[in-house]
Amino acid sequence: MEVIICASEGEVATMAAARIAEALSRRPDPVMGLATGSSPLGTYAKLKERVDSGKLDLTRARFFALDEYIGLPPSDPNSYAETIRTTFTEPLGVNPAQVRVPDGMAADIDAACDAYEAAIRDAGGIDAQILGIGSNGHIGFNEPGSSFASRTRPKTLTATTRADNARFFGEGRVPTHCVTQGLGTIMDAGRLVLTATGAKKAAAVAAAVEGPVTAMCPASILQFHRYATVVVDEAAASKLQLHEYYRDTFDMLPEGYRPH
Ligand code: F6R
Repeated sequence: MEVIICASEGEVATMAAARIAEALSRRPDPVMGLATGSSPLGTYAKLKERVDSGKLDLTRARFFALDEYIGLPPSDPNSYAETIRTTFTEPLGVNPAQVRVPDGMAADIDAACDAYEAAIRDAGGIDAQILGIGSNGHIGFNEPGSSFASRTRPKTLTATTRADNARFFGEGRVPTHCVTQGLGTIMDAGRLVLTATGAKKAAAVAAAVEGPVTAMCPASILQFHRYATVVVDEAAASKLQLHEYYRDTFDMLPEGYRPH
């Protein structure tokens, strides 16, 4: 696993955007996996800079969001469909027809989940997936206990996640269920880039990067991915035992050499 410790949130966003842009540059019609929440916003801003300066061409790119709340229509300001539209699709000038978000309103949720998986497969798979991490170690909305083999499916949100997301909805008003790409779906992506900032994420980051691989910390599955990058600021890195080593691997990098 590549662990990059940055001096600032801005640097986290720059490094994450660089890794994603690199993975997307490998084919003319690449596929990117999108996350919502606070973590990816800086990275989206850096990707926008690359698009605006002509360094990154997303004209033919396709996009799949990680997750959506069940019961919120795409028009709801707190739905992830709307969040993706306002934080990613519109600012980056992406064609909305190229962006798919799981359907949290489907009459047949299981069929909609299967169709979502099929759409990712038909697009040729996800080249680069951006991830945040929950304070309980979730990625997407794969809460602790999620199967490492899971595919897109409905999940019940934990009380921890509902409390973390109460800032958007108000206490007691966070939806109880969601549809999320599974851990198996996420692991199929060609490159995973997880960003985390702030001391509140330090324990989850340490468990994911250095703890045992366990369903109790779903993000620990990244240890099994060949091309996983974790980009953190000093506060989020503060509980990492191999802190110095991660710095050395980055600072002592020979010219032209890139670790995985
Ligand atoms: C959202 C998602 C979640 C968040 C995580 C961290 O699409 O997949 O896993 O990334 O809950 O949220 P923030 O970034 O708001 O701290």
